[in-house]
Amino acid sequence: MKIIVTGGAGYIGSHTIVELISSGYHPIIIDNLCNSDIRNINGIKKITGKDFQWYNADCNDKEDIELIFKKEKNIFGVIHFAAYKSVEESVRNPKKYYKNNIGSLEVILGCMHKYNVNNIVFSSSCTVYGSPEKLPVDERASFKEAESPYGETKQICEKILQESIINSISLRYFNPIGSHRSGLIGDCSTDKPANLVPIICEVAKGCRDELVVNGNDYNTVDGTCVRDYIHVVDLAKSHVKALVYLLDNNKKNVFNVGTGKGLSVLEAIHCFEKSNNIKINYSIGKRREGDVEEIYSDNQKVKKILNWQAKSTVHDAMRDAWNWEINKDKLK
Ligand code: NAD
Ligand code: WQD
Repeated sequence: MKIIVTGGAGYIGSHTIVELISSGYHPIIIDNLCNSDIRNINGIKKITGKDFQWYNADCNDKEDIELIFKKEKNIFGVIHFAAYKSVEESVRNPKKYYKNNIGSLEVILGCMHKYNVNNIVFSSSCTVYGSPEKLPVDERASFKEAESPYGETKQICEKILQESIINSISLRYFNPIGSHRSGLIGDCSTDKPANLVPIICEVAKGCRDELVVNGNDYNTVDGTCVRDYIHVVDLAKSHVKALVYLLDNNKKNVFNVGTGKGLSVLEAIHCFEKSNNIKINYSIGKRREGDVEEIYSDNQKVKKILNWQAKSTVHDAMRDAWNWEINKDKLK
């Protein structure tokens, strides 16, 4: 069964391609490598031992994308990962984010209508909830005013999908970390790392002197912010489950994809230290503007309806994050 995967060379996309191939699907990647590189394409081939179609094309280029839909017939559905993901950059340059993140979805939906492709799985984010009133947060929680243009694009895309006649599933990812056990695929982002675990890895590697913990005066277990860190391989598997659901149901739905467990920044640091037997140098700094104090998922819905649940522990994820960090430069 053919599945178009936009952003399939990216961090979550490449892991999903591996899961799709091992579940017998035929993924077709559309990715212009604007935030990834050839290492993930090579890595997928090494892990699966299979070849697959990859188009180096921009999802905003209507003509190019139409040509792909026209050429590739009998497509069951699309998994749409392609988007920019830096919260900080989106504040500096919102237009870039509206154009790529919303524009690319519009182009993809237009092609789906034209070529009669009726199913889409969309990469949403727990950022749509802002600061939740109730924890764990479930899918019924209303959207708050977005904390960044990036978050706003996710809210808008979900709304566009709600209004479309195409069957859709929006997966609201919590915080993906780690990488494939092989160390052959991972986050090849060209941006300077801004997320916690990639920064911990840089400190472990000696590329940074220390990690600055963004505040320890929150109302949480130890004063530092709490997140729901999910192994990227578990997250990737949820996309296969979403396709199975779309095969059986002509519907729309949204699911949280998280472990259901919250971990503080300090707990995450100590978990990395224990998993990899490396000491992390850190200091306590100021709060980061716009940070949510605490968020973790209620994952009952995804467990029940998609029959998905996280299998890896956060220790596995920290081990695999470090494995990618020490491997990634050798693959260049
Ligand atoms: P990523 O940057 O590693 O992957 C995105 C891929 O899309 C990249 O390979 C990039 O080259 C490609 N791409 C971007 N714009 C494109 C375009 N116009 N045409 C063709 N290719 C394009 O990011 P990721 O972490 O794998 O995230 C994938 C999706 O999941 C994104 O939509 C992101 O917003 C969402 N998401 C990510 C996280 C996270 O923490 N990583 C959390 C929640 C949601
Ligand atoms: C986690 C915690 C930081 C770096 C972001 C996006 C979100 C989603 C996932 C895409 C926070 C703290 C971090 C550092 C620190 N992406 N931290 N020192 O902010 O939960 O989510 O990525 O959809 O939309 O906002 O993840 O990894 O940046 O931060 O103390 O040097 O680690 O303040 O409390 P976040 P993160």
